[in-house]
Amino acid sequence: MRDIPVGILGTGKYVPESRLTNQDLERMVETSDEWIVTRTGIRERRIADPAQATSDLAYEASLRALESAGLSAEDVDLIIVATITPDMFFPSTACLLQDRLGAKRAAAFDLSAACSGFIYGLATATNFIKTGMYRRVLVVGAETLSRITDYTDRNTCILFGDGAGAVVVGEVPEGRGFQSFVLGADGSGGELLRICGGGSRVPATERSVADKKHFLEMNGRDVFKFAVRVMGSSAEEALAKAGLDKSDIDLLVPHQANIRIVQAALERLGLSEDKAMVNLDRYGNVSAASIPLALAEAAEEGRIREGDRLVLVGFGGGLTWGSSVLVW
Ligand code: UT7
Repeated sequence: MRDIPVGILGTGKYVPESRLTNQDLERMVETSDEWIVTRTGIRERRIADPAQATSDLAYEASLRALESAGLSAEDVDLIIVATITPDMFFPSTACLLQDRLGAKRAAAFDLSAACSGFIYGLATATNFIKTGMYRRVLVVGAETLSRITDYTDRNTCILFGDGAGAVVVGEVPEGRGFQSFVLGADGSGGELLRICGGGSRVPATERSVADKKHFLEMNGRDVFKFAVRVMGSSAEEALAKAGLDKSDIDLLVPHQANIRIVQAALERLGLSEDKAMVNLDRYGNVSAASIPLALAEAAEEGRIREGDRLVLVGFGGGLTWGSSVLVW
């Protein structure tokens, strides 16, 4: 069977209008703009309108991705939505999106790998195409993290925002596209970053709401250490699998969690700051949406040229991680 080269045919992004600044947060919890900027690099985040849910953000980003690929919704064979903030338990956000887009031919499912979800989604899409089962897959990372954030907890509320990014994955010319994927998981670290309420272990009750079990909880320090370790190692592994060296990287597109984590990855890879796409100052951490948002913005800003070698790398709850080498 021919090895089909698979890559990205189009990108799109959407962020809600409303901004939550560090100054706003200073009025909500015991924190300061100075602390947030020096510890995280974040200055503001976008917050969805009360009427907007995750599928609404996903829809806007998907329309733009399809337009940039020059395709219509009916050209899509499969929709994968990576999210930890689905509109509801089921139907999946991917099915809601399929209906809204009118992607009548498409199969659809959600993928749960937290902030690594978009990379997991790209790997899944690529393999469906390489086997010949599907030709075009819409991969979306979309989140309304403001709905699961406890705005009285200064350890977490300064970090998260809402937004969506989408790509259309399909066949590309020989020599282009995804050169490698690395996916990983370590479930023993699951307690470091999670929402434990609302599922079958801790169903929703008045007590679970009073105990704040439906909000995201995190051990920031341990997640930080894990992130620094895994960002460098999984990027190196993806480069080795692709037969490339660190010095071959034209642009690093990392998960946008904390500027210090990005800087540590750059240092390990021996890259200068201008080699990383960073937009966390404006959007904060948007979990599964963060890498596609950064990728779409890099493409819009003309930071990626044909033939450029990109490394996408993410980490998140699960614990999970993922990276990919991509020739644009
Ligand atoms: O997508 C994955 C999601 N999660 C992450 O990526 C999180 C990774 N972790 C981080 O980014 C960092 O650990 C944080 C930004 C969450 C925290 O930064 P840190 O440098 O690890 O701070 P820390 O937790 O070690 O806290 C240092 C101090 C503490 O005070 P004491 O105990 O030293 O007196 C905190 O109570 O800073 C305090 N602190 C704050 N102060 C002002 C914690 N949050 C805040 C705050 N404003 N918002």
